Amino acid sequence: MSELLLACVLLSWIVTCQSGPWRPCTDLLPLDLLSRVLPVSGRAQDGIRMVQSRGARGFQFSGSPQLFSFPASQLFINCNFFPAEFSVVVTLKIPQMPPEKSEYIFTLLEGDSEEPLLGLRLSQNKFHFLQKGHGSRKRITFKAVGLDDNRWHTVVLAVTGRYTILTVDCGTPLELVLERSFPDNLDTTGSTFFIASRRRWNGLFSGLMRQLVLLPGSDATSQICPSSEPQLSALSVPQALLHLPIKPSSTDLPLHPYEAEVRVTAGVSPPCGHSEEGQLWFNTLKRGLFLCDGIVWLTMLQVKEKLDYVEDHQDLFTNSETFDIEVFHIPSVGLFMATANRDSNLGSGIYKWTDGRFERYQNISTYDAKAWQYFTVGKKKFLVVANCRSKDAGDQEQSVIYKWSSRKLKFIHYQTLITHSARDWEAFSIQDETFLAVANHRQGERNHNIDSVIYKWNPVAQFFEVNQTIPTTGAYDWEFFTIGPYYFLAVANTFNGRSTVIDSTIYIWLGGMFQTYQSITTFGAIDWEMFQIENRVFLAVANSQMLTEEGKILYSINSTIYELSMTSQTFIKFQEIETNSALDWEYFTVGDDRFLVVANSYDGNSYSLNSVIYRWQGFEGFIPVHRLSTNGCRDWEYFNTTDGSYLIYSSARAALSKVLKLRTI
Ligand SMILES: *[C@@H]1O[C@H](CO)[C@@H](O)[C@H](O)[C@H]1NC(C)=O
Ligand SMILES: *[C@@H]1O[C@H](CO)[C@@H](O)[C@H](O)[C@H]1NC(C)=O
Ligand SMILES: *[C@@H]1O[C@H](CO)[C@@H](O)[C@H](O)[C@H]1NC(C)=O
Ligand SMILES: *[C@@H]1O[C@H](CO)[C@@H](O)[C@H](O)[C@H]1NC(C)=O
Repeated sequence: MSELLLACVLLSWIVTCQSGPWRPCTDLLPLDLLSRVLPVSGRAQDGIRMVQSRGARGFQFSGSPQLFSFPASQLFINCNFFPAEFSVVVTLKIPQMPPEKSEYIFTLLEGDSEEPLLGLRLSQNKFHFLQKGHGSRKRITFKAVGLDDNRWHTVVLAVTGRYTILTVDCGTPLELVLERSFPDNLDTTGSTFFIASRRRWNGLFSGLMRQLVLLPGSDATSQICPSSEPQLSALSVPQALLHLPIKPSSTDLPLHPYEAEVRVTAGVSPPCGHSEEGQLWFNTLKRGLFLCDGIVWLTMLQVKEKLDYVEDHQDLFTNSETFDIEVFHIPSVGLFMATANRDSNLGSGIYKWTDGRFERYQNISTYDAKAWQYFTVGKKKFLVVANCRSKDAGDQEQSVIYKWSSRKLKFIHYQTLITHSARDWEAFSIQDETFLAVANHRQGERNHNIDSVIYKWNPVAQFFEVNQTIPTTGAYDWEFFTIGPYYFLAVANTFNGRSTVIDSTIYIWLGGMFQTYQSITTFGAIDWEMFQIENRVFLAVANSQMLTEEGKILYSINSTIYELSMTSQTFIKFQEIETNSALDWEYFTVGDDRFLVVANSYDGNSYSLNSVIYRWQGFEGFIPVHRLSTNGCRDWEYFNTTDGSYLIYSSARAALSKVLKLRTI
């Protein structure tokens, strides 16, 4: 693209040169917009301060937007037209934005108008290029840009003809086409640049800005990319931000008067906001030193927690035996848990975490429920249940989606979907679209070789619709995961009607559908668990039983952890672990340590068995560290609250689940 841009610039240069003496309206050098609104070197100024965060410095704006503006005529020296081709480079760091909020990086405003001639705006996960068209304002929106994650990012927006090209951190360029070419006669007479705002307080940029440069006539990408540090790649960064921190000696005056003072507080969780920025907190409880960056306490030094032992926290009596537990958090409401219970007369329960324990919250009618899945679509919150029986004998089996009503503070019926002995739901999103996959286990009494179904949310109809069907054999579990830009979905196939020694399959999303990526022989596979350790990718399978065609049956068999090999691009065996009819794997971390816990359910004689917690020990793989006595263990879930980390397990044999607390040192 940059070659094209360069060609265009050269071409317009030649064309204009031929038709008479031509001079561009501005310098063709990078124009550092940020430097123009900074205080004269070394002098303090209200409303702007320098903040160091994640190893780099930027400016934070809190003062009147007027302070950070300058007339366009400062830049447009030869004539008043905004360049028809240009790029803007911005380096920023901004925390996640709420859905309704938007903030300006800069705007160019005509006279007293509040409609930008041109501007850049950010909103949740989106980047907008604003442009005043003939009579109407045009907005080009780049979606799923992932800029509001409180990390540094460098963005180049290049405009040439009908193309707008966005490059984030020297990654793959995103290109959008304008309805009409960007005008070559955008008049800037009497207009003003506002940095970090649109003249008003509303929409003031709240993050840190390190670089803001306008490059007339060309695409800056070729000048700053590739880069060894693409998040901080620089075309022109204000001098003040480049200084390395210098230790003040007694005779030196502070070099950066607008840097925050250092104050240390002790105590329990002091507030961290604008006014505490730069303040230190010595947390005696967590044994750590934290720095407030204006929003959250960043860890400077901390003794890492280590798992010491596991202790009984709560006996949770459920409506009946529980096959699955789903723990989820509803923002500003609280922590919840849904249990999938066997008994159709008593239904399933929803529990809320209250005063350090789960308490009954709501009952929902279910029919031999096997699993729950919580998910969101935009602001809507849903729970879907896998019902494995019909309401009345002879009726069709249906699974049900419930929606959280923020008025009633309960889940209410939303949509039913026909399923066949449904065992699991998996919700996931691909490029802003939401999908739901059901594992259909069996149709009628015998047929295990049936289709499982992937549904997609229709944002117009506001319902889920079939998107793809996939042939499965006694499907029990779906696991969705992403690796870099790729999306995967793995199915655990349990039984083909004769044997449990069958293939389970991993699919990859290609060309708008899931296609087979790899098949792996499993033994009555019930669960897949994907996890990452640094940049290594693992998939663990829970093998429940080996039933051969000859009718031999074994429960004490190996479950296997596979690792993605970067050379062969396939999952290969990493470690085998002896399990007793394993039904679930759960991965979790405590401090720097990584763990896997397995649900051992049956060894051929007894259901009272130990489930085991394994700790990652690098080259040695996972090593058993804790044995926990369980009864018909079906599911493990990890969760944490402000006062610690917990594990909960359910039993497929008794109406009793247990919450365990992870004690740390
Ligand atoms: C839910 O059902 C259980 C068992 O039938 C009952 O004990 C409990 O009171 C019910 N809870 C609510 C919130 O309705
Ligand atoms: C499934 O969804 C994808 C992504 O939106 C779409 O490209 C594809 O056409 C859909 N397939 C069907 C059969 O609707
Ligand atoms: C199960 O795994 C162990 C290693 O943990 C191995 O020695 C054994 O041969 C495996 N058993 C089978 C049947 O593959
Ligand atoms: C709490 O759990 C979430 C995932 O469940 C994890 O990302 C986060 O790091 C945990 N927090 C602590 C303090 O362990």
